[in-house]
Amino acid sequence: MKETEHRFGGAWTEIKLKVLRDYLRFYAQALKNQPFKLLYIDAFAGTGDRTVGNDKFSLFVSERRLKGSARIALELERPFDRYVFIERNSRRFQALETLRRQYPQHRIECLRGEANSELQDLCARIAWRQYRAVLFLDPYGLSVEWVTLQRIARTQAIDLWYLFALSGLYRQTARDFERVDPAGAARLDSVLGTPDWREAFYAPIAPTTPDLFGDPVSPIIGRHADVDAIEAFVGDRLRAAGFAKVAEPLRLLLRGGTPLYSLFFCVSNPNPKAIALSMRVAHHLLKAARL
Ligand SMILES: C[S@@+](CC[C@H](N)C(=O)[O-])C[C@H]1O[C@@H](n2cnc3c(N)ncnc32)[C@H](O)[C@@H]1O
Repeated sequence: MKETEHRFGGAWTEIKLKVLRDYLRFYAQALKNQPFKLLYIDAFAGTGDRTVGNDKFSLFVSERRLKGSARIALELERPFDRYVFIERNSRRFQALETLRRQYPQHRIECLRGEANSELQDLCARIAWRQYRAVLFLDPYGLSVEWVTLQRIARTQAIDLWYLFALSGLYRQTARDFERVDPAGAARLDSVLGTPDWREAFYAPIAPTTPDLFGDPVSPIIGRHADVDAIEAFVGDRLRAAGFAKVAEPLRLLLRGGTPLYSLFFCVSNPNPKAIALSMRVAHHLLKAARL
């Protein structure tokens, strides 16, 4: 496989990347006269490109190279002052280094490492009084820890686009609580920052009929929360992490309508004017993407 080859996503990928691109354009333009340096952070950066077609799923479509989030951010008409790309995979990290060399006019830092620890470190070492940032969290699955979200919110300087793996959460929360895998449950505790999802999603379901011997069957603990309730819970957890405002997420679906991801937008800056401006644009972009 070529260094730069990175196959991921589907129709939803183009939607999320369009929202991101349009928001970055707005952000760079809106803050151009402000006394802040602008920083773009891509914590699950990939290679900068996306290869589509000519694979086992699409035999008759020729291969094409599309821009991924990192390259999109680098090619803005009005670029940011500084870029930080984080990637754990060594081959993709090498591709990011190649990308960095293609844009010598930009200040780009590529960090090879785990997104949570790199982000927590970054939140601690940037002089946030001088910076305003947009952060894109685009993991494949349930990789972002709630403590990381807390650190991000605490900067009061970051606008966050977070692609949350709704289907991953739904899958982990089996219908029958007894079937919830303990390792998966521990992961949910760290992603949601609380054990309370157990009570919020599950309740005893009384059996309707006694067993063969006429004895009452003890109730099972069943999941009553549907996808909407689960998504709302995630939004509440983002608010609890300390974000000043969280927009109604954009649900991204598979072709058949199965919910896959929820694209959340969160503002950490508590300034009412900053909130109003960011939210107005984010709402507009999210609404347009729903059409
Ligand atoms: C969906 S892809 C990102 C695509 C990219 N945003 C784009 O639009 O081109 C997720 C990336 O995150 C990387 N990754 C997965 N888990 C990670 C982690 N814990 N820390 C850092 N990178 C991780 C993967 O290697 C992969 O390249």
